[in-house]
Amino acid sequence: MSLPVRTFDAIVVGAGGSGLRAALELSRAGLRVAVLTKVFPTRSHTVAAQGGVAAPLANSGEDNWHWHMYDTVKGSDYLGDQDAIEYMCRRAVEVVIELEHMGMPFDRLENGKIYQRPFGGHTQDYGSAKMAMRACAAADRTGHAMLHTLYQQNVHANTQFFVEWMALDLVRDAEGDVLGVTALEMETGEASLFHAKATLLATGGAGRIFAASTNAFINTGDGLGMAARAGLPLQDMEFYQFHPTGVYGAGVLITEGVRGEGGYLLNKNGERFMERYAPNAKDLASRDVVSRAMTTEIKEGRGCGPDADHVMLKLDHLGADVINQRLPGIREIAIKFANADPIREPIPVVPTVHYQMGGIPANYLGEVVVPAGGNDEAVVRGLYAAGECSCVSVHGANRLGTNSLLDLLVFGKSSGEQMVKSIRAMPEAHKPLPKDAGERSQARLVRLDSARSGERVAEVSNELRRTMQAHCGVFRFPELLIEGVEKMKAIAARAERIAIEDKSKVFNTARIEALELDNLVETAMATVVSAEARKESRGAQARSDHPDRDDANWLKHTLWYKDGNRLAYKPVHLKPLSVDSFEPKVRTY
Ligand code: FUM
Repeated sequence: MSLPVRTFDAIVVGAGGSGLRAALELSRAGLRVAVLTKVFPTRSHTVAAQGGVAAPLANSGEDNWHWHMYDTVKGSDYLGDQDAIEYMCRRAVEVVIELEHMGMPFDRLENGKIYQRPFGGHTQDYGSAKMAMRACAAADRTGHAMLHTLYQQNVHANTQFFVEWMALDLVRDAEGDVLGVTALEMETGEASLFHAKATLLATGGAGRIFAASTNAFINTGDGLGMAARAGLPLQDMEFYQFHPTGVYGAGVLITEGVRGEGGYLLNKNGERFMERYAPNAKDLASRDVVSRAMTTEIKEGRGCGPDADHVMLKLDHLGADVINQRLPGIREIAIKFANADPIREPIPVVPTVHYQMGGIPANYLGEVVVPAGGNDEAVVRGLYAAGECSCVSVHGANRLGTNSLLDLLVFGKSSGEQMVKSIRAMPEAHKPLPKDAGERSQARLVRLDSARSGERVAEVSNELRRTMQAHCGVFRFPELLIEGVEKMKAIAARAERIAIEDKSKVFNTARIEALELDNLVETAMATVVSAEARKESRGAQARSDHPDRDDANWLKHTLWYKDGNRLAYKPVHLKPLSVDSFEPKVRTY
């Protein structure tokens, strides 16, 4: 059975910030680009980003890209690649001003310049106690404003959208080149082959491998699963960021911008406990530091509520005007999900899974790179990755708030630029598709459509999420990690035996969830196996048995391969592009 083939110059999988920014570059260059997206573009998860996008515009105080670079390297706990970090910080002002000129409705200062607020870990003068005002904000809906701006620009540039299409697998030929993807149209349930000269994975994160997450339900690690099944490694997957302030019980994000505006955390004694853990930055320390402090307060019995299992975020002292003008979205969220109006009362919060620092290994031009022929970073021809599904690696072991929206813009743009350059250098005709181009996807669909009995998808995916939450949390314990790996192996085996009752094709969401489960399994397995193996604490990985960072043995990137469930390692790029390295040192805030 052969699949219908649709041919484009370029394919972008995912219509969040990085996908849209790349697509814009491609469409504006006059290339034929198809954007495949599971949801309408403006519903992509970038829409949920709240507090801001980092850029050292210096609109409200001194700032520069080198201070930003220092903060990002330090924030990454020295696992970030310093060439990529320099590249991102140097391009930050350009991409934000460009967005302003596209019509992005940033908040404004009295003088008309973009409004900027402080955010965790962003400092002046290489880590001084003075916070930088670096987060460019559109109230607390910055991602929403960004996504709409980029979508409108793409419509203007004639980008072709395939809405409610789920990409299934990468198509690689015998030489390992990527020639496109297979994808399923949800409306009809039929699969097609998308044939292209360049393919960008921009599928976002996989926070849905955890039970409590700020992530949208669509964040099932689709690009990661596609890469893993195509024989590519996943990098640094052990590093998952817990955002300090998810609404207790609901997981919905309460922006760090609240603390940027002057809000702070309290334990059950009404104590501003962050002063003990981070005497300088306090509530604006890096996220891993704040999340661990909150978890410690709860563990040591100073949590709030009848079960002493959360802390409080106080912001009523900011006054109704600031809250309504700068934080209207979180007021709405707090009222709806916590039944607390922050103008009058604190919001109950807990650390909640928010962001995946690891992903598909890529360089700062968006090219996917893998070990081959003695080279740690050989380019996979035809394949690019940008945004949260990629690991460039600018966030290393811990990302600073507002650097993710910046990452989307900078690497969405650089991958788009690189794809244009590479496509223009190629012959007119596409490389022919291999004979087995659609086989893997067809086999997955046949298995689902023919299975008459088996476990339900929800049973397996819920067990996966419970396992990851219990075994791979803010603090990690050796026995729990070892047990977590074994449990994940059992879950992976169960996922191969699932069955769906509804065999129809038209908008069959059970079928989509079953396909997503394969991606959740690859991502969760990569995460727990990589976490168990890394015998140190660094950034978001905090192990009880190895409480310290160990640069002598572990200043290296992890690579997880699906084939054999095995690990390899490669060096961190400690040398920036044009400036001196920031040498690893003890990280305090
Ligand atoms: O807290 C926030 O507004 C989230 C920002 C981010 O993750 O960058």
